[in-house]
Amino acid sequence: MEDAQKGFAGTFFLRAMETRFACKRYAAKPLESDDIKYILECGRLSPSSFGLEPWTFCTIGNRELMESLGAACFGQEAVSSAALAVCILVEKEKAFEPGSDFLKQRSARFPGGYSVFLEDYRGYYEFLRSQDRILSWSRSQAYIAAANMMTGAKALGLDSCAIEGFAEGEVLGILGASAEEKTVGLIVVFGYGDETPREKIREPPEAIIRLIS
Ligand SMILES: Cc1cc2nc3c(=O)[nH]c(=O)nc-3n(C[C@H](O)[C@H](O)[C@H](O)COP(=O)(O)O)c2cc1C
Repeated sequence: MEDAQKGFAGTFFLRAMETRFACKRYAAKPLESDDIKYILECGRLSPSSFGLEPWTFCTIGNRELMESLGAACFGQEAVSSAALAVCILVEKEKAFEPGSDFLKQRSARFPGGYSVFLEDYRGYYEFLRSQDRILSWSRSQAYIAAANMMTGAKALGLDSCAIEGFAEGEVLGILGASAEEKTVGLIVVFGYGDETPREKIREPPEAIIRLIS
């Protein structure tokens, strides 16, 4: 990339990071369908452990359903007033067992296919399983996609908020998803903010960065 282009892209990205804030109230204005596609593309292109993409991005834009989702998120206005919610469902333990249909389908896309994939994967899977960490590992993938979608949305001038406060059973019920197969990783809501952006509260670099040499 040319220096000038790099400078522009870097500045633009940082500007989106600086101006994104957790928006708690949205105007009653629907999102453009191209903007929704863009946000979802930011999620789809996100990296995931072993490239497994254990997520399903369930979108809700319908007012009635948004009200129900808001209630399932303990009445948070950020949810009920938003124009769009992306509920990121992730796979549960069963999907990650060597031999599962999910694993076979995902790994068949990689060079060498399932058998080569398994050589690499099995050890890490057994390690996570021995520590009972499969579910938290799966859920953590949702956070990366969520971050990319939120920054991507800000690059379009849209506001967002990550939502971790939800009653999982109720959310799965609204989405018609099976609690045996999926868990809710995270919900992210989007829209045109209807509040003054809050100033960022962040620790200075020296408080959170340690240079080990
Ligand atoms: C994983 C995660 C879950 C969050 N859950 C909620 C939530 O349920 N409700 C809410 O109002 N804000 C939620 N937030 C927003 C945070 O409170 C907010 O991002 C944080 O205070 C930093 O502020 P900023 O995003 O405006 O910079 C969540 C943020 C993250 C990253």
